[in-house]
Amino acid sequence: MKVLVIGGGGREHALVWKLAQSRHIDKIYCTPGNAGIAEMAECIEVGPDFDALIDFVKYNWIDITIVGPEEPLSRGIVDAFEKEGRKILGPTKAAAQLEWSKVFSKDFMRRHRIPTADYKVFTSYIHARDYVRMKGAPTVIKADGLAAGKGVVVASTVDEAEAAIDLIMKDHAFGAAGDKVIVEDCLVGEEASFMVFTDGTTIVPMASSQDHKRVYDNDKGPNTGGMGAYSPAPVITDELQQVVIDTVMRPTIEGLKAEGIKYKGVLYAGLMICKGKPYVLEFNCRLGDPETQPVLFRLDSDLVDIAMAIAEERLAEVPVVWKPESAVCVVLASEGYPGSYPKGRVISGLDTAKGRENSYVFHAGTAFDDNHAFVTNGGRVLGVTALGADIAQARDRAYAAVKEISFEGMHYRKDIAHRALRKT
Ligand code: AMP
Ligand code: GLY
Repeated sequence: MKVLVIGGGGREHALVWKLAQSRHIDKIYCTPGNAGIAEMAECIEVGPDFDALIDFVKYNWIDITIVGPEEPLSRGIVDAFEKEGRKILGPTKAAAQLEWSKVFSKDFMRRHRIPTADYKVFTSYIHARDYVRMKGAPTVIKADGLAAGKGVVVASTVDEAEAAIDLIMKDHAFGAAGDKVIVEDCLVGEEASFMVFTDGTTIVPMASSQDHKRVYDNDKGPNTGGMGAYSPAPVITDELQQVVIDTVMRPTIEGLKAEGIKYKGVLYAGLMICKGKPYVLEFNCRLGDPETQPVLFRLDSDLVDIAMAIAEERLAEVPVVWKPESAVCVVLASEGYPGSYPKGRVISGLDTAKGRENSYVFHAGTAFDDNHAFVTNGGRVLGVTALGADIAQARDRAYAAVKEISFEGMHYRKDIAHRALRKT
């Protein structure tokens, strides 16, 4: 079988790594890919327009396409492929609205009584500002559309909240994504990522996980795409997992169906667990990055079997089995990230790190230089991931592999999985 993966980050490297272990695989393509992915897949430059991608898929007899990031999903890549009768893993544009419009997502949750923070939507800058002044802090300000993870501000003062509204609605920092703004109650609790596979009817939970959004140790500094992740998340007990399925996942899939929208692919709920009860902070219509790295490390089943079963709407037939071990991923980032960062710095130690048992170095922002050496090419550069009998062992193995690797300006968090370790 031939598979095409769309994307070029750590999540996509983990997907390609897992697909390469499938008994069905003859060939994997990835667009655009990265230097690590290039070792196990053919990386190609095609797209971003869907006609070119569909031509590529037809010409190369690709059996199924797997979409990593939200951007092509929000432009309707699944609709375009399905119209041409091509198998693809991901939700349609209408279903992906859960991620690309926070206003749609919040209103949908209200309509279907899915637990989430109370909120108000504003299209007027003056009304939003007056409301925040009246309501006081802390409060949360969210731009409606996609803003590369930068459209949410948890404001601890009214001044901060006003500055966020200014940035989104007056300065148009995120363009049309900021035409509407949500002002939402601030929830206090513990965050967890909960992802499921679904074919629109059957819902199969993935192993639970947690990521670390802030750039520095002890959850200090600005938000990033994620500086590390681990699986399982102890906060998600078996009992709570069932509550999340019953009060969040099933009502969401069923609610969409009742509104005429079938959801197929991966649905990701960013949750806040407040006094043992889950509230939805956001939905994503794709796999999390870096959560995918430790989660797929624990997947025992064949990913091609799962992907085909979702596309063909027969997920109930396929067993999805998780390894009992734990996994931890530590992200190595470029100097300056999450702000601006240099590219092209030579990465050393990858060969030594590769020789380690139970660990794997997923590439995110990497490329080859003219001498075919690995160099940095993004903010998040590598995701060093390890498996262990428990979180502590997985963490120790991941950090031991991190010690082998270096590039100028490299930084990473030293406390990945600290919340899980406190609990054990
Ligand atoms: P989102 O993109 O909506 O998940 O928001 C990004 C981050 O902002 C989340 O991971 C939380 O840390 C935080 N956040 C979002 N909404 C809230 C809320 N209502 N209360 C507290 N923190 C929040
Ligand atoms: N790690 C958070 C996300 O993928 O959105």
